[in-house]
Amino acid sequence: MKHSTKVGIIGAGPAGLTLALLLQRKGIDCIILENRSRQYVESRVRAGLLEQNTVDLIRELGASERLDKEGLEHHGVYLSFNGVRQRVPFKELTGGRCITIYGQQEVVKDLIQANLDRGIEILFEAHAKHIEGIKTDNPSIFYQHNGEEHELTCDFVAGCDGYHGIGRQHLPKDTYNEFRIEYPFSWLGILANVAPSSDELIYAYHERGFSLHSLRSETVSRLYIQVENDDTVDNWPDEKVWEELSIRLGTEGWSLQSGPIFEKSITPMRSFMIDNMQHGRLFLAGDAAHIVPPTGGKGLNLAVADIRFLASALTNWYENQDDSLLQSYSQDCLRRIWRAQDFSNFMTYLFHKQAPHGSFENLLQKSKFDYIGISKAQATTIAENYVGLKEI
Ligand code: APR
Ligand code: PHB
Repeated sequence: MKHSTKVGIIGAGPAGLTLALLLQRKGIDCIILENRSRQYVESRVRAGLLEQNTVDLIRELGASERLDKEGLEHHGVYLSFNGVRQRVPFKELTGGRCITIYGQQEVVKDLIQANLDRGIEILFEAHAKHIEGIKTDNPSIFYQHNGEEHELTCDFVAGCDGYHGIGRQHLPKDTYNEFRIEYPFSWLGILANVAPSSDELIYAYHERGFSLHSLRSETVSRLYIQVENDDTVDNWPDEKVWEELSIRLGTEGWSLQSGPIFEKSITPMRSFMIDNMQHGRLFLAGDAAHIVPPTGGKGLNLAVADIRFLASALTNWYENQDDSLLQSYSQDCLRRIWRAQDFSNFMTYLFHKQAPHGSFENLLQKSKFDYIGISKAQATTIAENYVGLKEI
């Protein structure tokens, strides 16, 4: 079957879903093709840290009813180094900005509902196989749905299909440089039915490795620990997870509450980047073009920031026949992405165990940590990057 739309979007993650809502508001037709089932994408557990910019956009899109009720605003973060804990306050260092804790799968549920409420077509279990004609005015996405082959012709293709998608594979290799770091450690993440033991997130270096205390609600905690790349969840029975977290997060006068764990998984850590996100009528956004290690909580926020640029550029093209924002799309996104790459990499090296305890590299880590407490300038650098820079 052959059908058409203005913007063909591959992927119903945060990037594809926000793009569709922004386009629909401007009367620009689009269709989303999503490989997985609705149930699958709505239950995929990922990070849960929203920058102010992201919350503002979800509000602007009229999809924030549940986020406004259930999202938890945080005005500071705890950083810990071998049991010494300090707090970085956001409000006074960033002119009143903050972050909101709200699970990514909840964001995805809300955005899917908002798309469907506005009549936007999302084809679930539609597998995009290849894209043709990106250098013409009418590119096509060939996809498989319900066992049948289809062709979606459009004016533009938005590759919002994540790191493993097909979008990036269709960018000619000679149009970009690729950068990659595979870190020599992974994160074991858990969700547990227990009240958080901290009112704000705790990022901790310990000579046994990194750990992070986050949360989802007043009754659900989200925690992570640094493990080996070849580690498996079978090596981590619940008691061992809690014991290790308790040691790594520990500080005087504080204790970690444990509870039943209902989700446990291991995620590798990677920084990945390409320095061009477009070719002809194909535009990439989100994880399709960049991956940051989760230590800065930037993944979802970067995806949404790309989409702001892409939606404005497409709108300008349809409304004013002006392609200048389309031309500058990659450059406009890249400044923010490089900033987030640097911050995520900085946080990763600061809090993970890589070098032996007491080595030169390790003592530099400690010095960097101590500097946060000594220097308002350093604390401000962390705070403004963490809540997300407004200016770029
Ligand atoms: N055809 C159709 N859909 C596809 C295809 C394909 N060939 N390949 C991938 N997809 C879908 C995936 O199933 C997924 O639902 O594209 C979607 C991409 O969504 P995300 O991976 O969530 O990527 P993005 O929207 O860029 O959001 C980035 O997700 O991975 C996290 O930490 C990351 O928070 C960040 C956010
Ligand atoms: C999370 O809550 O899942 C989370 C929070 C902050 C991070 C990473 C993950 O840096």
